[in-house]
Amino acid sequence: MEKYVIEGGVPLYGEVEIQSAKNAVLPLLAAAVLTEGRVVIHKCPRITDVLNMAQILAELGFSTSFAGDDLIIDGADAANHEIPAALAKELRSSVFMLGSVIARFGRARIAYPGGCDIGLRPIDLHLRGLRRLGVNISEEGGYIDCTCSRLTGAEIVLDCPSVGATENIMLAAVRAEGETLIRNAAREPEIVDLAHFLNRMGVKVYGAGTSNVRIEGVKTLRGVEYTPISDRIEAGTFLIASAMCGGELVLKNAEAENLTALIHKLCEISCKIHADNGKIEIESKGRVSPGLVETSPYPGFPTDLQAQMMALACICRGSTVVVENLFETRFKHVPELIRMGADITVRGRSAFIRGVPSLKGADVLAGDLRGGAALTLAAISAEGQSCVADLSHIDRGYSDFEFKLRALGARIRRVRV
Ligand code: EPZ
Repeated sequence: MEKYVIEGGVPLYGEVEIQSAKNAVLPLLAAAVLTEGRVVIHKCPRITDVLNMAQILAELGFSTSFAGDDLIIDGADAANHEIPAALAKELRSSVFMLGSVIARFGRARIAYPGGCDIGLRPIDLHLRGLRRLGVNISEEGGYIDCTCSRLTGAEIVLDCPSVGATENIMLAAVRAEGETLIRNAAREPEIVDLAHFLNRMGVKVYGAGTSNVRIEGVKTLRGVEYTPISDRIEAGTFLIASAMCGGELVLKNAEAENLTALIHKLCEISCKIHADNGKIEIESKGRVSPGLVETSPYPGFPTDLQAQMMALACICRGSTVVVENLFETRFKHVPELIRMGADITVRGRSAFIRGVPSLKGADVLAGDLRGGAALTLAAISAEGQSCVADLSHIDRGYSDFEFKLRALGARIRRVRV
C-alpha cells in the first residue's frame, strides 16, 4: 500500500492544468465498442479506472495502446461478449459496457459492477431501460446475462436522473431500429460529451444536457478521434484546495460553466473567482461558512465534491450543514476529519459541522476516491504532519495529483508502506 506524507500549513500559488474528465472518458471507452473503426481519445488520463476500462476492451478483443497522451483503440477483430468478473468488480463504469456490447455483439455477460463503496448503487434503471429496448436479461450467481436478437427503439422514463443508466441506454439505443426517447435523463456535461462523440460516429442524438434525450438508431458507426471535456471534479477539488490553504491559483483547461454550483458557494465563502477562455482564477479572501451544502443531480451541487466541501467547512468561521442526497454512505471521510480535530456530528444523510480555526495533522485512511482527495486537502491545510493512506482510491481518478499539488507549493510526497 502507498500513502502521502504531508507537512501542512502552506498557501498554494501557481498554475495547474486540469485533466480530461474521468467520468467522460469512461463512457467514451464503452462507446468505442460500437465501431469496427479506429478510435483515438486525445489527452487521455492514465488513471486506474481508465487503465482498467482499457483492459476490459482488450479482454473483448480490442487492441488498446497509448501513444503519448493518445489512447488508440481498434476493434476490427473484437468478438468476445463477456466482461471478466475481476475487472467488472474494479469499477462502476464496467456496467456501461452492457449497452454497447449488446449493441455490437447481440449478447453480453458481466458480473455485478464494483466502484467506490458509497452506497447500494443499484442498477435496476439500467436493466429496466435495456429490457424496454428488447434485451432479454437473466441475473444468476452474481452475473448478468443479456441476449438480444433485435434492438427496438422505445420511450424510457427513468425514476431518477441516473448518469450511468442514461449513458447505458444511449449506448444500446444507437443500434436500435427506430427512435428511443429517454425521459428524466441525467443532464451532466459528461452526457453531452458522450452525445457529441456518438454524433461524430454517425449517430443522431438530440437533447443531451436536457431531461429528454432522443436517439435515432443507425446501422453502422465510424471510428473517430476525440478530445474529452475537462474534469470539472478535479477542477473543483483544486478550487476548494485554494479556499482551504489560501494563496492564488490559475486553473487551465477548466470550464467554469460546468461548476456554477460550486463557484457560487465559494463566492459566498468570500473567495474571489474570475473565469474566461477556459481558465479559472481564484484568490482566497478568508473562510466564512456557506451555511448549507446540499448535493443534487446536475446542475445542483455535485455529490463528487461533497467530501472536499466538507473538509473546507471544517475550517470555516461558523456552522455548516452538509446533506448528501444521492448516496447512502458517502460520509466515510467524517471520522478521519474528526481525527484531525474537526467538529462534525452526523444524523442520517446530514452532517453538522462547527468550524475550527485549523485542523491538526494526523494519520488518516481514505475510504473512497473523493474522500481521499478531501483528506489530502485537509492535510495540506492542517498544522503539522499527516499521513493519508491507501492511495489506490485517489489513483483511480486523479492523474499526477501529488505532482500538481507539489508544483503549487504543497509539501507532499508518496511513500510505500
Ligand atoms: C456517476 O455514477 C459517476 N460515476 C459518479 O462519480 C457520480 O457520483 C454519480 O454519477 C452521480 O453524479 C461515473 O460517471 C463513472 P447515478 P453512477 O446512477 O452512474 C440511483 C466519482 O467519484 N440509481 O447517477 O453510478 C443511485 O442509487 C464517481 O467520480 C438507482 O436507483 O451514479 C444514486 O442514488 C462516484 N438505480 C443515484 O441514482 C440505478 O439503476 C445517482 O446514481 C442507477 C442509479
